[in-house]
Amino acid sequence: MSCPVTGLTAEEKQHLETAWKKMIGTTPKEFKTAGITLVLWMFDNVPNMRMRFTKFDAKNSRTTLIADEMFLAHTQTVILALDSVLKLLDNPPKLQQKITTIVKAHVGQNPPIGSEYFDPFADKFHMFMEAALGLPEDDPEVQAWVKFLRALCQVVKAEEAELAKHHQPKKQRPRKCCSIL
Ligand code: HEM
Repeated sequence: MSCPVTGLTAEEKQHLETAWKKMIGTTPKEFKTAGITLVLWMFDNVPNMRMRFTKFDAKNSRTTLIADEMFLAHTQTVILALDSVLKLLDNPPKLQQKITTIVKAHVGQNPPIGSEYFDPFADKFHMFMEAALGLPEDDPEVQAWVKFLRALCQVVKAEEAELAKHHQPKKQRPRKCCSIL
């Protein structure tokens, strides 16, 4: 039976986890480095992402960024968030909750961080995996990650639609043709 949240089959879930273990390594230092590598890659590959950060200047060079405590803290936030999602793959209700929380934290920003960022992230992620793990685009581990990220993008779209429903422009009242009437 496939996962009701991500649509992944048991086999795809396995591929997702195997690749993740390779990405995060086995030591705390490797985990930390994985976060830095992923976020720096995102900055270089997700158009305009750097512009959305206020707690540190994401337009700085890699050398400056990796010496910036706020940047480093953000990289750990992202990798820990993904790690906790991966740990919930066998618990669909909690998985749904976790993904929704992450998505709301982005789409709820002003202006929203939505599909225009998450879609390119999902579309290009295979390149990250090729660079990080040496896997070709058609590798089942890469395919599983792309499928998972596309499911994440669907949640982003659902949240955007929800937001749009509540922000309908107010209907214009018909104007009176003359101020006396
Ligand atoms: C799978 C992909 C991603 C994960 C797991 C992730 C995770 C997170 C988490 C957990 C937070 C903290 C939320 C909070 O404070 O409640 C965060 C903040 C943020 N994320 Fe993401 N994120 C992802 C993708 C993106 C993308 C594509 C962008 C593109 C602009 C982005 C931009 C931001 C920004 C600007 C913040 C606020 C940072 C701050 O000022 O503290 N994220 N992200």
